[in-house]
Amino acid sequence: MPLSDLLEEVRARPLPRHVALIMDGNGRWAKARGLPRTEGHRQGALAAERLIRFVGNEKLFPYLTLFAFSTENWNRPREEVEFLFRLLERFIREKLRELSEAGVRLSVLGDMATLPRSLKRSLSEAIEATKGNDTLHLTVALNFGGRWAVLEAARRAVAQAQAGELSPEALTEGAFQALLPTAELPEPDLIIRTGGHMRLSNFFLWEAAYAELYFTPTLWPDFDEEALLLALREFQGRTRNFGRVIA
Ligand code: IPE
Ligand code: IPE
Ligand code: MG
Repeated sequence: MPLSDLLEEVRARPLPRHVALIMDGNGRWAKARGLPRTEGHRQGALAAERLIRFVGNEKLFPYLTLFAFSTENWNRPREEVEFLFRLLERFIREKLRELSEAGVRLSVLGDMATLPRSLKRSLSEAIEATKGNDTLHLTVALNFGGRWAVLEAARRAVAQAQAGELSPEALTEGAFQALLPTAELPEPDLIIRTGGHMRLSNFFLWEAAYAELYFTPTLWPDFDEEALLLALREFQGRTRNFGRVIA
């Protein structure tokens, strides 16, 4: 089916508001071609750029979150970790103006404290430079872990309780949610994982409670506009019950 027909079909039905992507399979993409893993990451960055541009230009949905580096990814060889951070920093510096002109607003989700200083600086500048945009809210989950996020909220709750500002009864689901680092984001409607593994790998945990999950064997560097539209079409065919009985 031509891309334009698929796009039209997907547009005709309700779209998700927040799509989150676990971008996996860069290493295997490179290995299959006899290339170093770093080349897979480089191609992966191009795939991310292509997708951000597509979602922004077509205004498919307003919230896109990309899982770029997990709290467990520190366990990779140091050279790979450094390469990933440099790649991201270059991406931000080189593409910022273009993305900003397309109406992209950048946010970062994760523990920024332990990131390299120059990366932190580029991220802060990009966040500041794009804060007035509202076509596409792009969140990069970086040094992010689902457990870290829940623990952060728990720490904030304890601090409030110690200050006498929070009682156990007042800590409702809504109050706890408001303490999460993801409080500003709508809950993800759709979580897509490329690369064939059917797991969350410590991505959104609390937030994923009612997300639709979509797994595809396509490796991240190959995940293109058509692949995204196919995922959206599958999402549109699902019934979301949220625990209720749907007659
Ligand atoms: C995803 O690709 C990128 C990051 C986790 C940063 P991988 O590097 O995990 O690729 P595979 O899973 O080894 O193929
Ligand atoms: C998940 O991929 C993390 C990101 C995409 C950033 P991993 O490659 O780290 O996941 P595991 O280790 O296979 O579970
Ligand atoms: Mg992987």
